[in-house]
Amino acid sequence: MSIKKIGVVGAGTMGHGIAEVSALANYNVSVVDISWDFLNRAKERIMESLNKFYEKGQIKEKPEDIMKRIEFSTSYDVMRDADFVIEAVPEIIELKRKVFETLDSITPSHTFLASNTSSIPISTIAEVTKRKEKIIGMHFFNPPPIMKLVEIVPSKYTSDETIEVTIDLAKKMNKIPVKLKVEVPGFVSNRIFLRLMQEACREVEDGEATIEEVDSAARNGLKLPMGIFELSDYVGIDVAVDLWNVIVSSGTAQDVKCEMYKRKFEAKELGVKTGKGFYNYPAPGKYRKVELQVTSKVDPARLISLAVNEGAWLIQNGIVNAKDIDTVMIYGFNFPKGLMEIADELGIRNIYNHLVDIYSKGYVAYRPNSLIEELINTSKGFYM
Ligand code: 3HC
Repeated sequence: MSIKKIGVVGAGTMGHGIAEVSALANYNVSVVDISWDFLNRAKERIMESLNKFYEKGQIKEKPEDIMKRIEFSTSYDVMRDADFVIEAVPEIIELKRKVFETLDSITPSHTFLASNTSSIPISTIAEVTKRKEKIIGMHFFNPPPIMKLVEIVPSKYTSDETIEVTIDLAKKMNKIPVKLKVEVPGFVSNRIFLRLMQEACREVEDGEATIEEVDSAARNGLKLPMGIFELSDYVGIDVAVDLWNVIVSSGTAQDVKCEMYKRKFEAKELGVKTGKGFYNYPAPGKYRKVELQVTSKVDPARLISLAVNEGAWLIQNGIVNAKDIDTVMIYGFNFPKGLMEIADELGIRNIYNHLVDIYSKGYVAYRPNSLIEELINTSKGFYM
């Protein structure tokens, strides 16, 4: 099936970036949102991003010409001839289901419908349509024009054809697709991200370190592009709290008590988008790299221990292998190397000891996964 026109529903942070990526891959694109305020802002942001690429010589085609391939509308009518639609509206399940009901009634029967949801189960979205086999998760990363990863999440209903078409589309968009074998709340990316946030928060709330010390260890010790709190600000604390709640309430991950995120959310200090979160930014929507001291007393192995434990859980449950987890972290979060590879380098026993220590303080989520215990007993690593 050849895709000629792509529809994007929602012109926010992710939606406008997905529209840009689609137009850059030479597709005609229609973007729908509820108001011209959102659409005009999206136009500006796409133009800004395309200009950056053009000025650096990373694209040859003029931004104005690329823009000609994108139409904007407040009416779903423009979706009538779309071959593949990607939904990127806020993470409210009722809203997503309403959007899919509408798309199902408006688009031709051959059209594939994807959701960019970061954590909502695809099957619960598919169930409102009459084409369950054509519904799939296509999870992009912020900022979509820069981040190479796309998680491909089939539900129990998704057909092989839909999976193939979506993987092919991701590749044509110059992205690296990682397919989950089994659908799991939060997918791979956000389950690992959740675990990083939980441990970062625990360290601060238990008085082991400050926010800046945690982030300095992430940036200077682990060489990540952003600290964990900085990344939470970048993604949006509302988005972070949302994915946290979805994953924990699904019953597939034990919670870790953390008040800081909740307090920021309630105070509407949502990070870069509001100009203030764990850090302050020059203006709402304007990110500037956070300045941090170089040294930190935080042990990088402790900071990633819960995330590595989650990685072991994902492997043990047959959702992905260690290599897939590493691809997700390298291309979805710009890690310099994979999480599981870092774990091997820092030592599985070291990771295990931190898990046991924190578990002994009463945090049940840190109970070491049996795969980690097995690796220790056989003196192996995830790759070694
Ligand atoms: N379009 C075009 N260019 C862009 C851009 C955009 N949207 N955003 C950034 N850039 C360019 C900048 O112009 C700059 O170019 P230059 O080096 O030639 O000057 C370059 O990218 C680097 O940007 P900055 O100098 O502003 O800042 P950084 O060096 O810190 O890089 C970053 C920014 C690429 C975002 C980097 O910090 C990073 O990789 N951070 C991690 C992001 C991440 O983990 N994203 C995933 C979040 S999780 C998610 O999205 C899932 C969801 O479900 C929650």
